[in-house]
Amino acid sequence: MWGIIATWRMAHEGVINAKELLENEGTCGDAVEASIKYVEDYPFYKSVGYGGLPNERGIVEMDAAFMDGNTFKIGAVASIVDVANPISVARKLSNEKFNSFRVGQGATEYAMLAGFERKNMLTNRAKKIWQKRLEEIAKTNLSPYDGHDTVGVVSLDKHQGMAVGTSSSGLFMKKTGRVGDSPLSGSGFYVDSQIGGATATGLGEDLMKGCLAYEIVRLMGEGKTPQEACDQAVYSFTHLLKERYGKAGAFSLVAMNKKGEWGVATNVEFTFSVATANEKPAIYLANPDDNQKTIIEPITKEWLEAYEKRIKAPI
Ligand code: GLY
Repeated sequence: MWGIIATWRMAHEGVINAKELLENEGTCGDAVEASIKYVEDYPFYKSVGYGGLPNERGIVEMDAAFMDGNTFKIGAVASIVDVANPISVARKLSNEKFNSFRVGQGATEYAMLAGFERKNMLTNRAKKIWQKRLEEIAKTNLSPYDGHDTVGVVSLDKHQGMAVGTSSSGLFMKKTGRVGDSPLSGSGFYVDSQIGGATATGLGEDLMKGCLAYEIVRLMGEGKTPQEACDQAVYSFTHLLKERYGKAGAFSLVAMNKKGEWGVATNVEFTFSVATANEKPAIYLANPDDNQKTIIEPITKEWLEAYEKRIKAPI
């Protein structure tokens, strides 16, 4: 059996490429890295890698993590700048016994010394969106914060290995040094090859209050299916947050277990991409219903066309 599940429509091409890899004895780690790199390199995705929206000073600060579910090795970077593929840096860091989570200048320095590609990650398009937002903020009381669509990928390979990875440019207009859930083990991602893995996208400040990726893996370890685990973790925590904190930000999680079964839960409309040995790569739309369950339906052609137009619309 093999499988891969990833957050958002943006991950779909990466999932298709990873399918070839996994079918041909490729490892889950390679599948996770390759699929996330595809998203990081694509200039029209404005919440990950090249083309990602910057912080309030116009700098693209990125977070990423990689975890190997066989060994529990974790590597992560936060607030890394000028590096083409933060996921690859995170993966390399996962082999370090010490200093495996680097932030800011330390992360960028590590990447440069290790020979990773240096790249100015601010595209003209992202710069224009940033400038426009600065003007809007000056004129109105609009909240400056927006967009935190992490790419998160869980993969299972034919050798029963599992891995998970995340990459994000974080919250648009964030303060310098703000870090979201994406590089945080348990919040943005978690995987245990003997159980399964999960990864998150959404408002990091709220996701880290619930450690939802770990919670989903824990629930799968107790015997829940990925869908039952996702529903229970996401809807009960959304409820708890509203009750105790007053509100819950938007968030969504995807999970896969060691058998290649998958699940998704979300408190907003959410797309994801999945492929397994038994299922062709496909994009789905997920929505919460009123009974703590997730409604999942295939994406329509109209939705995809509107999406394509939206991400490439003139600024
Ligand atoms: N989930 C990404 C972030 O909040 O930065």
